[in-house]
Amino acid sequence: MSQLLSQPGTVLITGTTSGVGSALAAQLRAAGHRVIAVARRVGEGDVPPNTVPYPCDLADPQATEALFAQIAANHPDISVVINNAGVQIAARLDDPALNAAALEGEIAVNLLAPAIIARAMLPVLRAQDRPTAIVNVTSGLAIYPKTTTALYCASKAALRSLTQSLRYQAEGTRVQVIEAILPLVDTPMTVGRGSGKMSAEDCAAAIITGIRRSQDEVYIGKARLLPWLDRIAPAIPRAKLKRS
Ligand SMILES: NC(=O)c1ccc[n+]([C@@H]2O[C@H](COP(=O)([O-])OP(=O)(O)OC[C@H]3O[C@@H](n4cnc5c(N)ncnc54)[C@H](OP(=O)(O)O)[C@@H]3O)[C@@H](O)[C@H]2O)c1
Repeated sequence: MSQLLSQPGTVLITGTTSGVGSALAAQLRAAGHRVIAVARRVGEGDVPPNTVPYPCDLADPQATEALFAQIAANHPDISVVINNAGVQIAARLDDPALNAAALEGEIAVNLLAPAIIARAMLPVLRAQDRPTAIVNVTSGLAIYPKTTTALYCASKAALRSLTQSLRYQAEGTRVQVIEAILPLVDTPMTVGRGSGKMSAEDCAAAIITGIRRSQDEVYIGKARLLPWLDRIAPAIPRAKLKRS
């Protein structure tokens, strides 16, 4: 029986210009997959082989909807969609430097874009005669929020909920809806923060392994402790992540 990512195919990844998305794209390309890459900076400079770049600002819902109508028409063979692009405003909500437009952009990239992309791509995935998947990248902060980055934590909690609802909607189809729950990873998003971070390469490899295993929820690295701690001692991760 064919499995997710078992044969070279076409994978769509958002946020391929940096961090985890860049590592995902490199590893999937190395495994023979063609990568449809979406981010603001894709296509700048040399485009890696076996890559089709689609520059897009995912903070703009109308531009995202228009682009994904085009991608769905151009690439009916996409079998895995990875909603990885994300933005994190590292400030308290009462920081005077913050404004409503920045907050709106954070929600648009982290939550609205994955919903718009799912709307566009589900018919493409459902039309195939093989297992297909949507993968949404969330965080341990979706379960236990921290003090700062309040809207980021809330957006990832909402994306976790959206992922569960989509999973219900996909019941009875060959589309699997997967959530990858990340720990602290060493990327431009986390420069100057924390210690003991996982590398983006190890994180990407673990996400790919979880997709290949068709897991609904893929807890990565230290995040694997969360379901267990949640049951026996939730005060521990609550306090740890509050200060993270
Ligand atoms: N790093 C961590 O510790 C950590 C932990 C838990 C979860 N995560 C999640 O993992 C995912 C990857 O994060 P990362 O750490 O690899 O972050 P990163 O290095 O900052 O990369 C973010 C990616 O998202 C893209 N992006 C941001 N804003 C965009 C926009 N408006 N339109 C289109 N693309 C946009 C960026 O591309 P452009 O700038 O070219 O647009 C970039 O490729 C995110 O969803 C993040 O929330 C990360």
